[in-house]
Amino acid sequence: MISRKITQNMAAGSMIRKMFEEGARLKAQFGADKVYDFSIGNPDLEPPAEVLAAFQELSADPRPGLHAYMSNAGYLETRQVVADKLSLSSGLAVKAEAVCMTVGAAGALNVSLKALLDPGDEVIVLAPYFVEYLSYIQNHGGVPVIVHCNETTFFPDPERIAAALTPRTKALIINSPNNPTGVIYPIDVLKALDKVLLSASQTVYVLSDEPYAGLTFDGQKTPDNLAHLTNCIVCNSWSKSLSLPGERIGYIGVSPRCEDYSNLVQAIGYCNRVLGFVNAPAFLQRVIAKTIDARVDVNRYETRRNRMHEILTSAGFDVRRPDGGFYFFPKAPIADDSEFVAACAKHNVLVVPGKGFGFPGFFRLCFAVPDDMIERSAPAWLEIGKEFGLV
Ligand SMILES: Cc1ncc(COP(=O)(O)O)c(C=O)c1O
Repeated sequence: MISRKITQNMAAGSMIRKMFEEGARLKAQFGADKVYDFSIGNPDLEPPAEVLAAFQELSADPRPGLHAYMSNAGYLETRQVVADKLSLSSGLAVKAEAVCMTVGAAGALNVSLKALLDPGDEVIVLAPYFVEYLSYIQNHGGVPVIVHCNETTFFPDPERIAAALTPRTKALIINSPNNPTGVIYPIDVLKALDKVLLSASQTVYVLSDEPYAGLTFDGQKTPDNLAHLTNCIVCNSWSKSLSLPGERIGYIGVSPRCEDYSNLVQAIGYCNRVLGFVNAPAFLQRVIAKTIDARVDVNRYETRRNRMHEILTSAGFDVRRPDGGFYFFPKAPIADDSEFVAACAKHNVLVVPGKGFGFPGFFRLCFAVPDDMIERSAPAWLEIGKEFGLV
């Protein structure tokens, strides 16, 4: 018999999986081109040409030992390239030793939490949140403490965070640009957060989950969290910025300003090993060392964001235009977001209820989907708008 805890967690975390199954059923019934699946954040753009070229070139590399185990934190060459990039963007002197290559951002978060948490330690999670955070924290004996963001701006509220701090608070997870809201945290918010965390009686680390950092629109840039947050541990990946989510490559970057820096760096390499990751994929580390400055064509996402925003607003939805990432988080026109999502499915439109992100009354849709699907979905959105009296 499987664990009772896992049985409970699987039941609670099944919303996106349910949408996936619903999508398969609807596609079989109506045909794939009549179903508008906005539920899953799986980037549909191919990786940039230089990344694909590096794949080719490196696969022909005849040197022996390229597929062997290595230091748990990864190849020094790749870690140096990442450290140089972090130093340049933050203005801090980040050393290669502070970088650990990981199995995606998910691996980076799990390794960092493993290194930090004792059983019962608390980790503040900002709602709406990426639902996996709760499992990641519980994986390592931690207790998630949910703090709601501002309901209008979706920015973290430093006063609410201050009120949630206890002597057991070990870390805060932030994600900017944010999944699901698409907001980018401005510098003044980061500074206010830092002040609150530094006022705690113990060190509170910030796990800065940044897989959407390179995906920003209207010429905006994501402020550098490492530069503005003192005890910052960057957890990042190339899943979204290089469209490589299936290749599982990311990293942890520890700020030189972190309390207990040397032990933390050692612990992270150790935890990468004992969690069973051992080290991040060797081949992908070599690809990254060659293509660190590459990025998918963000304009393609921006065009989709613009068109999707037009479609949603024409259908009468109350929605903020995302500044980065690839999600919209509109207000549901009725209080029960699950009921609204079920009504959307009747129009073959698949989205995820805000409840799944700890933020009822809203819903999420992903616009990293083909342009023609966005276009074909427009009449269905209009019908939904009419059904709920929005137009
Ligand atoms: C906010 C957030 N964090 C982490 C992840 C995990 O990313 P990775 O594929 O790099 O593990 C995702 C993936 O969707 C995400 O949206």
